[in-house]
Amino acid sequence: MIDFKEIISNAISNVTNISQYELKTYIEVPKESNNGDYAFPCFRLAKELKKAPQIIATDIKEKIEVNENEIIKIEVAGGYLNFFINKKLLVDEVLQEISKTEEYGKSEIGKGKNVVIDYSSPNIAKPFHIGHLRSTVIGGALYNIYKYLGYNTTGVNHLGDYGTQFGKLIEGYKLWGEEYDIEKNPIDELTKIYIRINEACKEDEQVLENCRNNFKKLENGDPYCVEIWEKFRELSLKEFQKVYDLLGSKFDSWNGEAFYSDKMPEVIDILEKTGKLIESQGAKIIDLEDKGINTPCIIEKTNGSTTYATRDLAAILYRARTYDFDKALYVTSYEQVLHFKQVFEVAKLLGLDEKYTNGLEHVSFGMVLLPTGKMSTREGNVVKLNDLLNEAISRAKEIIEQKNPQLENKDEIAKKVGIGAVIFNDLSNNRVKDEIFEWDTILNFQGETGPYIQYTYVRTKSVLEKAGQVPDIKDVKSENLLDESSIRTLKLVYSFEDILKQVTDKNEPSILSRYLIDLAKAYSNFYNENKIIVDKKDVQNARVYLTYAVGKVLKTGAELLGIEMPEKM
Ligand code: ARG
Repeated sequence: MIDFKEIISNAISNVTNISQYELKTYIEVPKESNNGDYAFPCFRLAKELKKAPQIIATDIKEKIEVNENEIIKIEVAGGYLNFFINKKLLVDEVLQEISKTEEYGKSEIGKGKNVVIDYSSPNIAKPFHIGHLRSTVIGGALYNIYKYLGYNTTGVNHLGDYGTQFGKLIEGYKLWGEEYDIEKNPIDELTKIYIRINEACKEDEQVLENCRNNFKKLENGDPYCVEIWEKFRELSLKEFQKVYDLLGSKFDSWNGEAFYSDKMPEVIDILEKTGKLIESQGAKIIDLEDKGINTPCIIEKTNGSTTYATRDLAAILYRARTYDFDKALYVTSYEQVLHFKQVFEVAKLLGLDEKYTNGLEHVSFGMVLLPTGKMSTREGNVVKLNDLLNEAISRAKEIIEQKNPQLENKDEIAKKVGIGAVIFNDLSNNRVKDEIFEWDTILNFQGETGPYIQYTYVRTKSVLEKAGQVPDIKDVKSENLLDESSIRTLKLVYSFEDILKQVTDKNEPSILSRYLIDLAKAYSNFYNENKIIVDKKDVQNARVYLTYAVGKVLKTGAELLGIEMPEKM
């Protein structure tokens, strides 16, 4: 499809000798249509060219050469250059592209590049909570989008199936195992044991010591400890799977922390050889003071057992070798910012090619705050994800019962709407922002929500149904789509591919969710301003085709976010 940003940046590059690639990233899409279709801010060049932005804009305008069939007008406004494009050309291009492909917006820009995404990664024997939901949803959306853009993508569920907490659980199980029905309700019961053993540790130093030793034994392959640990893992996974089934989450690898138990000696060995692994109060640490990180990275604890960080270092080595990654993303809450800073810094000592250490990125996100307060496993005040998702479904069902009691397959649709609402909510704001979880906001059909996107999609479907069929592209004349509301909608359809690229540039799925809201609003506006089913056949064809295009993009976009679309609701 014609790339207007490319055309504009090329033309500017020709008269400024600045790289076209760089210029392209500066181009903006103005909010107000009287500021043109694209704007180039000259502020960014002021330093380099040692001139005032407005003068730069005027200079460029005088010298620039463009094809008048593509760019019909250029204006200087303050320090901006505003470009007005040939709208008919844009409309023609979009319609053609929509008619040509079932997978609109798909591309091959990631071809030959490998991306590993570490996401979800809940902890065995602990509840799968709402923070892990965010990781699962954000990571899952990124996974789908990278794939759609041609990247070779691997999704890893780095299960928290190792660490001192297992020493505690084993101890608790030894002491009071028979009192709890672990088979029936594994996570609930194990959580109870975990809370109880934590109390016991607080009271009695010896109990804590036993717990630490249990983990050490587990690491050394003690059969009793390994057997209990395996049982915890298996039962927990069975429960997590219920959540993954509801969300439709899939992973290519389930290698959790325990997978790295035999891969850590190599890490320690490499670090020893750098001379940077030092003893401190009986533990082995890497001091990071000179890197601006005040807390040292602990590689081995006093009793010789390894840490979360050591396992992540082993995982970096493994992923570099196994997946040859260009990017390795870690999707967790911002609570782990320090952890990843430390780990990424220490990774530079592992002797890996810079390609790998430069490719490491922590994709952090804000907390989910519930009106009921904050959550912590130790105190046991946790909203469980399985319950939450099922509540979303039953609330969606109630709304459907009120609005459209005649609907067929209500349960199936309630599932799509309820789960879609929760997923969309998690993706609708900039990921680093904290999010407040409130049912009424999330499920509001008129708000900026998942159900609103679904509702708009369903509306496009019913228009198509009324029209009887999608018109043949040969019968669609772009002259009929040059009014303000059609153009605004089609410009959004046009920018879909660019939006997906922006998501991967910033690892920010909310760029896509905001876009879908904008598109749904633009279509609603178009719908209110234009009668679609009309006597004039070619006007109807054009409007029906626009409707078809919007439906296609809404569906593709929502599915990339992990949201299923109902055909009716
Ligand atoms: N299990 C960790 C948690 O629940 C998240 C793991 C993230 N991935 C990683 N490679 N450290 O907090």
